[in-house]
Amino acid sequence: MPVVKALDIAFARLQAPDLDVAERFLLDFGLRRVERTADRLYMRATDPDPYVYVCHLGEPRFLSSAWHVASEDDLEAAARVPGASPIEDLDGPGGGRRVRIADPIGYTVELVHGRRPATALPVEPVALNFGWDGVARKTLQRFDARPSNVKKIAHVVLTTTDVVPVVKWYRETLGLVQSEDIYAGDERNIIGSFNRCDRGDAYVDHHVFFCRNGSRHGLNHVSFEVQDFDDLMLGHDLLQSRSYKHMWGVGRHLLGAQVFDYWCDPWGRVHEHWTDSDRLNVHGDGRTLPREAAYRSQWGPSAPKEFHGYATP
Ligand SMILES: [Fe+2]
Repeated sequence: MPVVKALDIAFARLQAPDLDVAERFLLDFGLRRVERTADRLYMRATDPDPYVYVCHLGEPRFLSSAWHVASEDDLEAAARVPGASPIEDLDGPGGGRRVRIADPIGYTVELVHGRRPATALPVEPVALNFGWDGVARKTLQRFDARPSNVKKIAHVVLTTTDVVPVVKWYRETLGLVQSEDIYAGDERNIIGSFNRCDRGDAYVDHHVFFCRNGSRHGLNHVSFEVQDFDDLMLGHDLLQSRSYKHMWGVGRHLLGAQVFDYWCDPWGRVHEHWTDSDRLNVHGDGRTLPREAAYRSQWGPSAPKEFHGYATP
């Protein structure tokens, strides 16, 4: 039995040496500021979570991923893990409580419960005239240049020198289940693992945690769902116009099937936009695929060499 069954990822906590520059990037990326103090910046998306991203003032570093749990009992179970913090108050808007646990490579995992949701921000659904329904939209379509409207935080990806024990820890701690594992050569040589939350019959994103191999530990990327394909491309154009470094995209992944677009923040940390993910429930076995079949796009460019095993502190 896992310690808890995490319901979903809640937020990511990173650190940056200039909060003005961090906020400018995050606004351009499509998040909105909720609160800022002398040493901390809280950003939200359009879903009701009070924030999905916290930036602390300090040396560039990924600090933690935070995960929703279902109850105070889950927090108590987490607090019993050797080395875990006691249950403590969560910082930031919306309040709530948390337990902190260190993962096997030294990043913090926060289990959070009792946050007060904010009001969802309005978004306008886009109707599209496709070949199979040519009059879904009977009005003129005109988009203004703007950032994407990020909907929610979606997944975190860590790079590590030894994937198997890290994935084992995340599955045993957060109750994550295997969606697809990737091997090189021998089938037992697992070099990547896509995992999702166990919400029973409810459908969830194909992956909420991906772990891949590399020559050092670090953050590979943090990922956010946007509203739709136009929203992703409007964000792409805006980020390009502001001269941020583009890492990879636009394309459609094979594993997870998202339409993806990857951008670097001013300190080289990769932030992903995606739309249209595969969704699975807990039923059905995980799959294991060879590297050659797994790491490719259904359309769009292959990953640049620089992104293989990418890891920032
Ligand atoms: Fe991703």
